[in-house]
Amino acid sequence: MKLSVLFLSGALVVSGVAAAVAHGGATGIVKERMDAMGAMGKVMKSLSAMMRGETEYDAEAVRKGAEVLQSHSGEALTKQFPEGSIEGPSEAKPEIWSNWEEFSGISGQLKLFATALGEAADNGLSTPGARGGMMGQGGLMGQGGMMGQGGMMGDPSHMQNPELLAQMPVQGLFNMTAQTCSACHTKFRIEKK
Ligand code: HEC
Repeated sequence: MKLSVLFLSGALVVSGVAAAVAHGGATGIVKERMDAMGAMGKVMKSLSAMMRGETEYDAEAVRKGAEVLQSHSGEALTKQFPEGSIEGPSEAKPEIWSNWEEFSGISGQLKLFATALGEAADNGLSTPGARGGMMGQGGLMGQGGMMGQGGMMGDPSHMQNPELLAQMPVQGLFNMTAQTCSACHTKFRIEKK
């Protein structure tokens, strides 16, 4: 009895050390991408408070945040998913590699939106004069509007154009960015229990 307790506490110390250096014992590329995702999560959390008006609008913070998202999306993201890398505490689904085109497509989409978000930082939350108009509540960019069902993904010609995107109010771009995170997680990440 005594021995097994000793053994257990020894094991705990060892796993405690591992947890301190890695998310749930993740190592290598899995840990790297978890860190990258975590950095994006932090950005989205702080920007989301700004979008809701809980913190003051800060164009520079939007630009900086967008840079972080940009640096972890596109190829930077897909490179962190070498085939079959689902070891340890990874929540990545094997479908990533059987649907690689879609997976990398969403990653590219994130980069496009993050880039536009940074460029649109000076546009502010809503475009002056557009309040209550097309960009207003329930309007084109509002909930259930163009971004709703079949919206964003259904009109590639418009939504893939970086120049048009950069003219949008920050809030719309933020929502599109957030939806891109969820789109990938819904399909390619095992839901947390
Ligand atoms: C192209 C797909 C894709 C996109 C886009 C994406 N993610 Fe992820 N994300 C994943 C996958 C897959 C995992 C699980 C990785 C693992 O556990 O190996 C993950 C995990 C995470 C985690 C958990 C990390 C951890 O420590 O376990 C967070 C937080 C996260 N993503 C935030 C974001 C945010 C915020 C965005 C958007 C700005 C985003 N992700 C965009 C695929 C994506």
